[in-house]
Amino acid sequence: MADPAVGDSSGAGSPVNFRAALRGMFGAALERLSADGIVAIAAEDLSGLLEQVRETADQKFGDYSGTMAMALAKRAGKKPRDVAIEIINRLDVGDLFEPPAEPVGPGFINVRVRDDALARAVVAAVHDARHGVAPVAVPETIVLDYSSPNVAKPMHVGHIRSTVIGDALAKILKFRGHHTITDNHLGDWGTQFGMILWGWKHCRDDARFAADPTAELGRLYRLVRKVADRKPEELAADSEAAALAQQHPEAGREVLAETARLHEGDPENRALWERFMPVCRAEIDRIYSRLHVSFDHTLGESFYQPLLGGVVADLVQKGIARESRGAIGVFLNGDDQPPLLIRKADGAFLYATTDLATIQWRLEHWKPERILYVVDHRQSQHFEQLFATARKWGAGDVELVHVAFGTVLGDDGKPFKTRSGDTVGLEALLDEGVARALGVVTAADAERGTGTAADQQRGIAEAVGIGAIKYADLSQNRTTDYVFSFDKMLQLTGNTAAYMQYAVARVEGIFAKGGIDRGQMRRECHGVLLTDPRERTLALKLLRFAETLEDVEADYRPNVLTAYLYDVAGAYSTFYDALSVLKAAGAERASRLALCDLTGQVLRKGLELLGIRMPERM
Ligand code: ARG
Repeated sequence: MADPAVGDSSGAGSPVNFRAALRGMFGAALERLSADGIVAIAAEDLSGLLEQVRETADQKFGDYSGTMAMALAKRAGKKPRDVAIEIINRLDVGDLFEPPAEPVGPGFINVRVRDDALARAVVAAVHDARHGVAPVAVPETIVLDYSSPNVAKPMHVGHIRSTVIGDALAKILKFRGHHTITDNHLGDWGTQFGMILWGWKHCRDDARFAADPTAELGRLYRLVRKVADRKPEELAADSEAAALAQQHPEAGREVLAETARLHEGDPENRALWERFMPVCRAEIDRIYSRLHVSFDHTLGESFYQPLLGGVVADLVQKGIARESRGAIGVFLNGDDQPPLLIRKADGAFLYATTDLATIQWRLEHWKPERILYVVDHRQSQHFEQLFATARKWGAGDVELVHVAFGTVLGDDGKPFKTRSGDTVGLEALLDEGVARALGVVTAADAERGTGTAADQQRGIAEAVGIGAIKYADLSQNRTTDYVFSFDKMLQLTGNTAAYMQYAVARVEGIFAKGGIDRGQMRRECHGVLLTDPRERTLALKLLRFAETLEDVEADYRPNVLTAYLYDVAGAYSTFYDALSVLKAAGAERASRLALCDLTGQVLRKGLELLGIRMPERM
């Protein structure tokens, strides 16, 4: 007999998701419980009950705990403990778990993973290119609509949330095995073009446009917005804007007229729009390339314009939309609630009209099961009304989800602004993050006396600085507002990108230090010893990668993944600080190296799924 803690040496075996396996076992037990007439359970209640099989908060209670006995007992008017005993009697945990003994407390069913099963699962994961994460059984086609800035306005800090969260979700869903389609729904047709058109006609600077077209369009946008808005405090601070506002008292109205002319197909405005668009695209593409974000499609609002008339006509014809005071709207909650407007009295179409056309187009061309909109929470009402209208219109079974997120705040708790009062341009923000990271990198280098070449330092700083900004955002619960702080996000300890990047470098450094060929090590890994509790804890954490990604998908929360990675790094530190790896011998050394290897694989993959790059050196 082999040592029980040594995995099966006959082969790598298939990946194990312990929680999913245990939920399946509880599912079978609950069905028997119901069939035996102990507690009636409707089929549709089962999955909710099985979600109550979770990781325990404290390992002294085992690894997983099922807590559904309480809810079931209440329904049946029985004692929770008695129901728990009936469940335990019907629970077949196979060879993955130790059979639970007694219920604990009011009726918790605590279950411990068998050490031999855990060891086998580690070996399987070490050999698995997917690190123990099996693809979903039923892949779906999922459209992700994110980033979607209004072009011709400078991108600001708010846009980073949609871009970074959307990109991470797309990568995670794809890795889970879904067919993802990413689409940047650019605002390329809105009123901001009215400002630029008006500015072009009244106050452009040809020399500046020739030298730096993006900067000139940005300048026109900012200037004309002030002229059109006529806010006294803004005009007091900008004499050029003040002079223009005085010369053109009707600027606000004229700007709207320029937009209307563009939408009506006026050849001059159309030609200018076509000239401006590549400039606007180049501007945002530069930011995307620094963020290493790309999209399968970039079908902006302008793409859907030819369809809008038909959408309105169809909604009216089907009795879903109707006229009210010259405009056309969809009345969802009776006549006293404001309708979802789809055509203004002057004939103009709206944001919602384009979004309806977009849903129709995506359903027809991509046939998705789900569409996710990663957009600021301030648009919640828009999406509620949009989804309700789409349902009435016959969008069928597609699941439409608004993945909302909160506001980025400054230290003062107010929306993040610079001293001059403008929201911070995204590019300046990235530059500052990288500059500060460079400071950290050069200081660390000077301390170690490693003498890294300056251009290599800059490359490292780019990965660390951009990574820090992304990670800070992703590690927040997306629905809450969060305080943007360079000092915090660049710390080398705590749940930051730099700490995680360090963790990967540290783990992987062992193989270099020991002169170990990782590929060969994996091929020769047929079993692991998990005798020390710190080895066991780390092993179990590593095998929770699959369930973590499942939880990210369930609620579209990348912070579940960052929290998990931080946890893994912590379990690894505890393990590594207490036990020797390179200095150990024989099977112990091989086992510990296998745990190091899997830790490196999981952390690296986790960061990759979050869109965080590893610098070439730390
Ligand atoms: N362009 C919009 C904005 O900046 C966001 C678009 C989100 N996507 C959508 N399909 N509505 O507010």
